[in-house]
Order: sequence, then structure tokens, then C-alpha cells
Amino acid sequence: MKEILAELDKRRQTARMGGGQKRIDAQHGRGKLTARERIELLLDEHSFEEFDMFVEHRCTDFGMENSKIAGDGVVTGWGTVNGRTVYVFAKDFTVFGGSLSETHAQKITKIQDMALRNRAPVIGIFDAGGARIQEGVAALGGYGEVFQRNVLASGVIPQISVIMGPCAGGDVYSPAMTDFIFMVRDTSYMFVTGPDVVKTVTNETVTQEQLGGASIHTAKSSIADGAYGDDVEALLQMRRLIDFLPANNEAGVPEYEVYDDPEREDFSLDTLIPDNPNKPYDIKELILKVVDEGDFFEIQENFARNIVTGFGRMEGRTIGFVANQPMVLAGVLDSDASRKAARFVRFCDCFSIPIVTFVDVPGFLPGTAQEYGGLIKHGAKLLFAYSECTVPKVTVITRKAYGGAYDVMASKHLRGDLNYAWPTAEIAVMGSKGAAEILYRAELGDAEKIQKRIKDYEDRFANPFVAAERGYIDEVIMPHGTRRRLSRALKMLRHKHIENPWKKHDNIPL
Ligand code: HXC
Repeated sequence: MKEILAELDKRRQTARMGGGQKRIDAQHGRGKLTARERIELLLDEHSFEEFDMFVEHRCTDFGMENSKIAGDGVVTGWGTVNGRTVYVFAKDFTVFGGSLSETHAQKITKIQDMALRNRAPVIGIFDAGGARIQEGVAALGGYGEVFQRNVLASGVIPQISVIMGPCAGGDVYSPAMTDFIFMVRDTSYMFVTGPDVVKTVTNETVTQEQLGGASIHTAKSSIADGAYGDDVEALLQMRRLIDFLPANNEAGVPEYEVYDDPEREDFSLDTLIPDNPNKPYDIKELILKVVDEGDFFEIQENFARNIVTGFGRMEGRTIGFVANQPMVLAGVLDSDASRKAARFVRFCDCFSIPIVTFVDVPGFLPGTAQEYGGLIKHGAKLLFAYSECTVPKVTVITRKAYGGAYDVMASKHLRGDLNYAWPTAEIAVMGSKGAAEILYRAELGDAEKIQKRIKDYEDRFANPFVAAERGYIDEVIMPHGTRRRLSRALKMLRHKHIENPWKKHDNIPL
């Protein structure tokens, strides 16, 4: 009996060594942790239960029959994050570069199936070169199975991808179909084809970083939702993110005990808006001052910074925040900002996370660059997302709400549940100067006259009361009471229930 137990122990130890000490050292040498070390950090201590540790590939081409490694390049199982169940798979770069074989795919699809069946999030940790080249179509088929499950699980359970090494092919396409992608700066890369193939096909010489580093994907392509300094930071931040997320689309948001009074007033907010309407201020200050304990998890911090998206809590329950950022491009809505916010709003709606929207927007960004880039379609994405979503929507206009952007930003007309405005709000078709110059073009030569026209327009529309008179604004509120108002509103809306007409699915302008 003892020998049998010892045999199991020996087999486990061998499997845990993955591609061997030399490759583990190389992994560490690059500043990366191993798959198992990563899982240890992500999950609660001693909570990980591994499955399929002894699975091997079945390939007999290219001499592969002589090169089998228990586990076959991916570590899979389940565990808990702060006590809540999650399923996890982590690619082991030390085994065939973490590449995906038929059996490796079966390990992942087993986890995906269990997660979907048991309605808990899946976290994939990627450090891998895509389909295993030696296996050909068997590997491609394997990836197809993974992709299909990504899609079926989408909107049912949260799926998070953490990119922690060079990733190509299926190891970027599967993440692309999950809810969030996070990267590690300087050690992780994402591309469909690597620099060598790029050189051959296009004769372009690029480094991995230039082609698909975190700097590219968090700021330029918007593929990644955030990046961190190293593996440890990334995994600890993932634990923080998971705390904000519901387990599935029926579970509702998690609720935590908080020690931050929902009635807390903040008088510094009364002076947040500068006297000069063209002066910027930081909308994140408002977010941080209203959420519980100043705890805000930002999504896509470095992309389209003219809009801010992320998760916070009110009375211990997760809320999605969307806010125009006057500090960047005056908070204007452009294609990137619209796409970014639309995707965030849709995530919140999938998982019944209420949305708070802070509005200070001078309109959509004019110009050929935007129009040629499809602003009409991209702007429509946000309009569509806010219109279709059925979660509680509470909106606060802090300053400008001009033109179409007024409508888009969770206005009353798009089924906003509670629409507040600060006394500093200006709700109009456009800014007073622009309006006067169009309406009174003939008087443009007379500076005095045009100034008077601007003043007249300002007096009439640069306030929240015209909208309030129509009931488009439910209440004009004091800035210092914003947290109290939001807490009460969200509590009142906790059991909101509306349904859209039956349809197979809608046709959001992609
Ligand atoms: C088999 C692979 C592999 C792969 C890497 N390895 N990728 N083995 N199949 N796809 C192996 C290498 O042979 C090497 O083995 C070890 O992993 C480490 O790889 P290196 O190249 O030494 O590492 P590095 O220089 O860091 O480069 C990493 C890399 C590069 C950028 C990922 O390996 C690469 O470009 N790989 C190929 C990517 C690719 O084109 N994959 C197919 C995609 S098609 P040894 O034994 O030397 O340690 C696909 C289809 C899905 O995925 C469908 C999408 C829609």
C-alpha cells in the first residue's frame, strides 16, 4: 500500500515539474512565474483542486510519441477567491510553449463546461503560442471547441483572461471572446502572428513589444483592459476584480459589509466645478468621493481617457460607473470612447450590475478623422447599449450635456430611472457661443450684438431647469449630497424589473 501511495506522490511531483527545472528557471529568468505559482497566487490558500494532472497528448507525428509530459502544458481546476468559487486554467509555457494539443484542449473545455454548468467565473491564464504545430488540425479543432464554449458562456458567467507571456493564434482569439483581458507589462504580448511571420509576409520589422505589448493593447488597440507591473500584482488585482463580479447572470451582485456611511456628505464636491465652464476638472475625484471607501476598479484606464469606466460599490454592492472626463478632450464623445463605454454598459447589463452615469459632455467630436472612422456607427453603439439595457440606471449631469451626447448618456429618454442634475448643469443643443453664431450669423460682424446673443442663450439654456421643467431631470441636487442620493436611488431600484420585447438577439451596430 505504502508503495502505491509513494507512486502517486512521485507521479504528482513529476507532473508538477512541467517542462523541467531548466525551463522553469528560464521562465523565472524572464521575470515570469510558472503556471502553478500563478494559480497559487490567484486563489485562496489551499483552495486549488487540480484536475487531469496526468493527461498526455496522443500525437505520433514529428517524433512527438517520444516526448510526453504529464499535464500536457495546461494546469486546470477550481478553487476560491475570497471564498467564492472560480474555475481556472493556466497555460504552462515550459511544456511545448504552452501550445494547445487535442488533449490540452479537452482539459480546458472540461473546465469551461463545469464552470457553465455550475455557474461560476472562469479565469484563463495565458502564456502560450497557440495551436500545437505538430498536431495540425487536431489542435485547430481543439481551439474551435474552446472558442465555441467561450461564446456559449458569454453573458452567462464572467470570463477573464490574463495574458502573462507571449501569446499567439488561439491564445489571443480565445481571450478576445472573454469579458476582460489583462496583461503584464514587458513580459506579455498578444498577436495573431508573431514578428517572424510579419517580417516574411509584409517585410515589416517589429519587436514583440511594438507588435503586441501591453503599451499597444491598453492604449492603442483597446484589446486589453489593463496592465500591471508583474505577475504578482496582476494576479492580486484579478482577485480584487473578481470580488466585484457576480458569479453568473442570475446570481446578482455580491454584497460586502462596508463601514462607509451611505449618507456621507462631501462638501468639497460643491466646488468641484470650476467657475469657468471651459476649465477642466477630474471626474475621477467625483467617483472616488461617492463610492464606498474610495474603492474603484477602473477598466481601460489608458484607452479613450475622455470617458471613464469601472466598478465601485454603493452600500457594499457592485455598481458600474461611466463618466465623461473633462480632463481629456473636454470629455467629448468620439468613436473610441463610445466603443469603450458601450462594451462596459453591455457587460453590466449582462450581469445585472446597476449603472451610474456622470455626464459632462460637450457633444460628439466633429471632423473628417472621426467621420471616416465610423463615428456614426461607433456612437450608435453607446446609444444602443444604454437603450437596450434593463439594469437600474441613475444619471447625474454635473455640467455640460450638449446635443446628441445628452440623449446618449443614459438620459431619461433612454429609460434612465433617476436623472439628477447639479445646479451647474447646462443642458442644450450646443454651447452658447456656437448656438449664437449659427442662429445669428448675419450679426457676426458686430461683436457687441453677438455677445448679447450668447448671453441670452446662456441665460435661457445654461442651466438644468429647462429640462427639469419638462421632467427630463427628476431633481436638481446639491453636489455634496450626491452619495446619499445615489445610495437611496440604487436601494429604491434594487428590484427593478423590465423586459425588452422577445427577440433572438438584437442587432447592435458592430
Ligand atoms: C508547438 C511551440 C509552439 C506551437 C511555441 N512552441 N509555440 N510548439 N506549437 N504553436 C515551442 C517552441 O518550439 C519552443 O520549444 C518553446 O515552445 C518556446 O518557444 P520559443 O519560440 O523558444 O519562445 P519565444 O521566443 O518566447 O516565442 C514565443 C512565441 C513563438 C512568440 C509564442 O514561439 C511563436 O511565434 N510560436 C508560434 C506561434 C504560432 O504561429 N502558433 C500557431 C497559431 S495558429 P523548445 O522545445 O525549443 O523549448 C492557431 C490557430 C487557432 O493558434 C485559430 C485562431 C482563429
